[in-house]
Amino acid sequence: MRTQVAIIGGGPSGLLLSQLLRTKGIASVVLERRSRDYVLSRIRAGILERGMVGLMRQAGLGERMDKECYVHDGTLIAFDGEEIPIDFKALTGHSVTVYGQTEVTRDLYDAAEADPGRVLTECDEVMPHDLDSDKPYVTFVKDGQTQRIDCDYVAGCDGFHGISRQMIPAEKRREYEKTYPFGWLGILSETPPVHEELIYATSQRGFALCSMRNENLSRYFVQCPMTEKVEEWSDDRFWDELRRRLPAHHAEAMVTGPSIEKGIAPLRSFVCEPMRWGRLFLCGDAAHIVPPTGAKGLNTAASDIHYLFNALVQFYEEADADGLERYSETALTRVWKAERFSWWMTTQLHRFPDQTDFDLRIQRAEMEFLRDSEAAQKVLAENYVGLPY
Ligand code: FAD
Ligand code: DHB
Repeated sequence: MRTQVAIIGGGPSGLLLSQLLRTKGIASVVLERRSRDYVLSRIRAGILERGMVGLMRQAGLGERMDKECYVHDGTLIAFDGEEIPIDFKALTGHSVTVYGQTEVTRDLYDAAEADPGRVLTECDEVMPHDLDSDKPYVTFVKDGQTQRIDCDYVAGCDGFHGISRQMIPAEKRREYEKTYPFGWLGILSETPPVHEELIYATSQRGFALCSMRNENLSRYFVQCPMTEKVEEWSDDRFWDELRRRLPAHHAEAMVTGPSIEKGIAPLRSFVCEPMRWGRLFLCGDAAHIVPPTGAKGLNTAASDIHYLFNALVQFYEEADADGLERYSETALTRVWKAERFSWWMTTQLHRFPDQTDFDLRIQRAEMEFLRDSEAAQKVLAENYVGLPY
């Protein structure tokens, strides 16, 4: 087999890149380890920045999204019973879009059905070779048969636990990491959202987030120690804890019901530099992770895809490799800003086990400054709606 771009990983990054390349007549093959159903069952991100919304439209997949999404012009930050409305639209002229990662990946998998062989699922032992030559190739095992794809470039879109990043020799790779001493316990429930906008709440009992997918599907999270087990959290215990972390009138208005999904996720900041080695380009979670506070994970993957897609088009249409040469530097400049914002949101809104009274007063001062300063609100809004690409 031969293609122009071999893409390892069929999550949102890999599928979106392949779909965008298709619009320019550039051939790609996506190699995904799991089944389509498995990928579609992973409930993850819920908020899209305008850049990601634009990429979906550019990929020819705006129709269902534009019909079913919800546009949010602001959010609420709650602390100690107070509420700070952040009016994205007034502060930045932009909004965010509620459309789940499951819907994004479903649209991308459905679109791929038009081109049999463009997305191959259940591929084992995917391995790129000769990435530092001008003739790279990827081998994999599908249905018990070892196969080989020759290509011009390899896109490593295989998430944090993938193999692509490991292909960069250790002495050429620098990894920056921060783990947080807590996780997020999240549920999905078929209940109406407690408020029309998202609520990011900090309280003496820790952080809580009220999010949603639609009028009758809510997504809620509470900060918890990573030592907790999901089995120890009955639905009743979850709802009680969530209510105790919210301003009273929201807690009273909360409609509860059985959870249809429940899980605990760790929080981590991580960046790998560089994001390119030879003919390998890392995108999305393969290169960087953010803690979920601020909804930047999927959106930062999207900006990588934007830069790589445009660089590949420049190469194939104009025989100009400049964008590819500069991909790592360009992508990382934006990645680090998303890392900074996610770290800041996480640090300001969570309770840390070793926090001193001084740290708590600083957190409170941050919230009071945010409440009283339009400039501070603008900084939050500008980052939340997404920095331009
Ligand atoms: P992934 O979605 O990880 O996709 C990588 C794909 O590569 C996977 O399908 C995987 O099966 C495949 N793969 C892995 N290894 C191999 C291999 N060796 N060979 C072939 N295929 C391979 N972000 C937010 O913005 N908001 C959230 O609320 C949020 N919640 C999250 C909750 C969890 C539990 C996790 C893990 C992430 C969450 N994120 C969230 C982050 C967001 O989901 C990711 O940033 C986004 O999925 C990145 O997309 P990706 O395609 O780069 O990586
Ligand atoms: C969602 C997740 C987030 O991490 C976030 O900051 C906002 C929304 C969500 O899944 O809906």
